[in-house]
Amino acid sequence: MTSTIPNSNLCEYKPGLEGIPATESSVSHVDGINGILEYRGIRLEELAHKSSFLETAYLLIWGNLPSEQQLQDFQTEILYHRRIKYRIRDMMKCFPETGHPMDALQTSAAALGLFYSRRALDNPEYIRRAVVRLLAKIPTMVAAFHQMRRGNDAIQPNDDLDYAANFLYMLTERSPHPLAAKIFDVCLTLHAEHTINASTFSAMVTASTLTDPYAVVASAVGTLAGPLHGGANEEVLSMLDEIGSIENVAAYVDEKVAGKQKIMGFGHRVYKVKDPRANILQGLVEELFEKTGYDPYYKIALELEKVVEGKLGAKGIYPNVDFYSGLVYRKLGIPSDLFTPIFAIARVAGWLAHWKEQLNMNRIFRPTQVYTGGHNIPYIPMSER
Ligand code: SDX
Repeated sequence: MTSTIPNSNLCEYKPGLEGIPATESSVSHVDGINGILEYRGIRLEELAHKSSFLETAYLLIWGNLPSEQQLQDFQTEILYHRRIKYRIRDMMKCFPETGHPMDALQTSAAALGLFYSRRALDNPEYIRRAVVRLLAKIPTMVAAFHQMRRGNDAIQPNDDLDYAANFLYMLTERSPHPLAAKIFDVCLTLHAEHTINASTFSAMVTASTLTDPYAVVASAVGTLAGPLHGGANEEVLSMLDEIGSIENVAAYVDEKVAGKQKIMGFGHRVYKVKDPRANILQGLVEELFEKTGYDPYYKIALELEKVVEGKLGAKGIYPNVDFYSGLVYRKLGIPSDLFTPIFAIARVAGWLAHWKEQLNMNRIFRPTQVYTGGHNIPYIPMSER
């Protein structure tokens, strides 16, 4: 559905702004026909195999791969800032333990703005510190809420562990197996950035008012939480659970298609083929299962992919990034309501990359609308309504 906009040089309204460029950007590129994703021009497959999440975050945010010294300094600074202030922990202790971790994260991310309130967007040192603080503290806040909702104190970051291993440690107080930490780090790299998706757009709109970066990230977290976006990874696990066995897959898909309902973890605005991240994640799932035993959900997932491809492949509906990620996290022993917060931990890199890029060419976002209401309607007094 499109409609023309009167008195405008734009000729049509596109619901969901499909295909409308919202910015110029050199952060990443998606080729949705050929299933290619590049961060700063480098193929994702290459980064997933050769880089680390923090090196990739550096690349995304600063625009180039770091030298050995630059990467070491970046990692050291992030390690130094991983702790959160006791007042933030105290605030989090008041959150209801039944609350969703994404809501806890959004609130906590916004609260950082209270503690680091001096806003100096024209000061490169302020930008650098905000980047470091957000990358460093978001995982700590996710893990802290997870501990607190179970009645425990937050587990302090472990300075002997790198970014990915430390997050897994803070969830369990046990150092993870190196393979688990490596695979988790790759998952973070895969989720780090994806052009102008809904949460990044949300971050950009917030950033365009020149507010502080903590508000930028908090608004993006809120946007990522929805089931049409990052929240789908949690929904995929519930769906596999609901389907229960491979014999039920075809009937499940038939029912969804007949009811015009969405099958979670499938479809994408840009990809008309299987999301390259889903391919890499599937490889990780298999690597993990080969070493640690198969998850019965995997067979259901494979059958689901086959059946959906048969029924909806012609429409370009294939697995997206959220389809296989949950199976990796489940095998790592992570509860399903932390899947989307983990997506957020990774995507902070992309949000900050766009924030930083936008500061150099900022103009407030203020689109227009196609007005569909009336005019000059008389006010009806209360007694006559
Ligand atoms: C992410 O944008 C990004 O880059 C996001 C992301 C990132 O890294 O930031 O890649 C991460 O958000 C992945 C998407 C996670 N969401 C889900 O898995 C939820 C299920 N998927 C859909 O709701 C949907 O595919 C979207 C939200 C992802 C895309 O929505 P669009 O582009 O608005 O597409 P649409 O809903 O208008 O669907 C177009 C057609 C429709 O059929 P017709 O009415 O034209 O006949 O495709 C069908 C839809 O019914 N369709 C699906 C489907 N997705 C689309 N049918 C069944 N199941 C699906 N999942």
